[in-house]
Amino acid sequence: MMDLTTKYLGLDLRSPLVASASPLTGKLDTLRQLEDAGAGAVVLPSLFEEQIVHDEFEIQKVLGTGLDISAEAGGYFPHLELEDSGPDSQLRLISEAKKALDVPVIASLNGATQGGWVNYACLMEEAGADALELNVYFVPTDPSVSGVEVEDRYVNLVESVRERVEVPLAVKIGPYFSSVAHMAARLVDAGAEALVLFNRFLYPDISLETLQVEPRLQLSSEAELRLPLRWIAILRGQVAADFAASSGAHSGHDAAKLLLAGADIVMFASTLLKNGPGHLATIRDELLKWAELGEYESVDQLRGSMSQSHCPNPDDFGRANYMKALASYSSSLP
Ligand SMILES: Cc1cc2nc3c(=O)[nH]c(=O)nc-3n(C[C@H](O)[C@H](O)[C@H](O)COP(=O)(O)O)c2cc1C
Repeated sequence: MMDLTTKYLGLDLRSPLVASASPLTGKLDTLRQLEDAGAGAVVLPSLFEEQIVHDEFEIQKVLGTGLDISAEAGGYFPHLELEDSGPDSQLRLISEAKKALDVPVIASLNGATQGGWVNYACLMEEAGADALELNVYFVPTDPSVSGVEVEDRYVNLVESVRERVEVPLAVKIGPYFSSVAHMAARLVDAGAEALVLFNRFLYPDISLETLQVEPRLQLSSEAELRLPLRWIAILRGQVAADFAASSGAHSGHDAAKLLLAGADIVMFASTLLKNGPGHLATIRDELLKWAELGEYESVDQLRGSMSQSHCPNPDDFGRANYMKALASYSSSLP
């Protein structure tokens, strides 16, 4: 049987199959089920910048002291319909999860601006988090803001969290940069030890009944895994970081592909939400069965063996793939 042990963020993991942030990692009973099903680590749901800023705003309102945000702006903070979702309960979850689980517990901060909220990184470390994941979810809508300014913002945010904590730091980003590879290198220079590729952006919809802009959360599909697969394959060997694959991994075969591309770990959310936390054991069994057929003995042996730098035709991860895909579709037409 293949040895599943691996390292991520300097932590020893018993398996590269990790539960990414989702409601399943927000409760002790499902966290235990994920551990029982073989999770190598768990990422707790994010503490959102809005939760912290909103909390501080409410406190300042009660204390009647000035805060650097207007009452009008305070009204814009999204009301998060999350049960018991304040910063205190998130910090409590970290320490309870640490007590309840043997696998590493990664805490997550999610935001877009530099501000006092990043101090929570320290509190998360104090609460016992083994590592931090910083999810930068920023939608740049102002035409006067250049790509360079947006990138600087990411880098400054990572630097400011890095300054506050000793524990390893992973950064979760989306794929929308002019140069993903350059951005990845900058984030690593700024102090990220791992990159989580990718954040899955959720897009608004318009309801034709209510004529309201509506949030819509659809779980991922397997086709989405090819985006992290491409970029991890390209970055492995070029950027000195650990890589976590996120988005579109639903099965053991998906995990195998992402490990071959160069991922250190593969993260799962949608398929576990759909099939339950126990499904992680099925995913692990499928990965092990596939590895046995290929006579792979360890994750080390698998990892990156099909990354771009190991590929006979490196452009298969670049433009050549596009040309070949179009040509193969045309030639399959009757
Ligand atoms: C209901 C739900 C809640 C999520 N909450 C968080 C979160 O708190 N923080 C975060 O970084 N990602 C969050 N995610 C994103 C997942 O961690 C993951 O990156 C994304 O769903 C892509 O992986 P998947 O294809 O396995 O679902 C959430 C996803 C879902 C579906």
